[in-house]
Amino acid sequence: MVKGRAIRFGAIGCGGAGTHRIRQLANHPMGVEIAAAVDVDPARLDNLENVLGTAFARYDTEDGYQRMIDELDLDAVGVFTPHTLHYDHAKYALEKGKHLLIEKPMVCGTGPSMEIAQLAEEKGVVSVLHYQRHYEPQFIKGRELIRKGIIGDVTSFYVYMAQDWHGRTWRGDPKYSGGGQVNDSGSHYQDILLWMTDQLPRSAAGHVDPYYHGEERPIEINGSFNVELANGAGGRVLIMGDIIGGFTDDVRICGDKGMLIFYGTEVWFKPIKGEAKSFTAARPKGYPESPCDNFVKLIRGKARINRVPLIYGARVAMLTDAMLTSAHKKGGQSVVCEDLLKNAGYSLDDLKVD
Ligand SMILES: NC(=O)c1ccc[n+]([C@@H]2O[C@H](COP(=O)([O-])OP(=O)(O)OC[C@H]3O[C@@H](n4cnc5c(N)ncnc54)[C@H](O)[C@@H]3O)[C@@H](O)[C@H]2O)c1
Repeated sequence: MVKGRAIRFGAIGCGGAGTHRIRQLANHPMGVEIAAAVDVDPARLDNLENVLGTAFARYDTEDGYQRMIDELDLDAVGVFTPHTLHYDHAKYALEKGKHLLIEKPMVCGTGPSMEIAQLAEEKGVVSVLHYQRHYEPQFIKGRELIRKGIIGDVTSFYVYMAQDWHGRTWRGDPKYSGGGQVNDSGSHYQDILLWMTDQLPRSAAGHVDPYYHGEERPIEINGSFNVELANGAGGRVLIMGDIIGGFTDDVRICGDKGMLIFYGTEVWFKPIKGEAKSFTAARPKGYPESPCDNFVKLIRGKARINRVPLIYGARVAMLTDAMLTSAHKKGGQSVVCEDLLKNAGYSLDDLKVD
């Protein structure tokens, strides 16, 4: 816990997401000092300085994250770099005992993501994964309703998200993307399925394709999967990058008593028989507003619950791994998540949330 002075924060990666999160932290009423930032593109550091209106220690080399952590007395570090770099950046920060705020997808791959989630636990630091949907009223409400049994036992689901996702810059480079759109925005939707239903994934089977507006790209643009959850529920997860303009989603979770449907910020319950009913979703009193808010309050000792511990990232990484393995190596045949875990030296027990 940090008391009596500002939390000293260092950021790794100051692109779109990084700048947004850093600004939120800098404006947090509980006091965060942006002490340092790393980015291999100095223009991003210039931009951050303009956005914040204050100076900070700057590092613009690939080993800048190590130098920043070694040279400065930081309390906390944020990882906002391209996906496949998260592992090195998070590992170094955790090994040095820093509190960690990390962007999704937490870390790519079943084994590496388990390693990082366990390291965070061992170190006893505050570690929050930036899945902002855990802080959005409609998904909080959906989770609460499912937990209260409104739809009964979860039996099936339909999770669809589509975004005009061109996969340019590093996102279109397999070295950094770690699975294209399936691993990028798709990560959020795999997460809310698992989080709202409180289930681990059992298996995934499906296909991906690399087509965006008629052009073949070197990464996964679209994916269609059949996913099975640990309780036997089965359903469809569709993650698309090849839509013309904008963003859309449709999430439906079915149980033996009815179905929850999420339209934007609205939550509807459609019972097996009878009228559909809508719920007003609002963030419960005292619930943190965002991952940044949760992170700061946990470090300050003003929040008790971490709404997205890193283990949620490991659960999703395992599901993403099963989807991509099925598509790329198994010709669309089912891949069992527990096998991926075992191959990496872990068991299902390691995925429990306290
Ligand atoms: N939670 C969300 O909804 C959300 C939204 C956007 C991005 N993100 C996540 O944030 C991360 C960054 O995405 P982005 O959209 O900000 O990308 P971006 O390209 O805008 O920013 C990435 C930054 O990292 C820098 N960088 C690259 N290699 C580096 C290295 N070795 N050391 C230091 N800096 C390095 C780049 O120069 C760039 O400024 C991704 O993991 C992405 O999934 C999450």
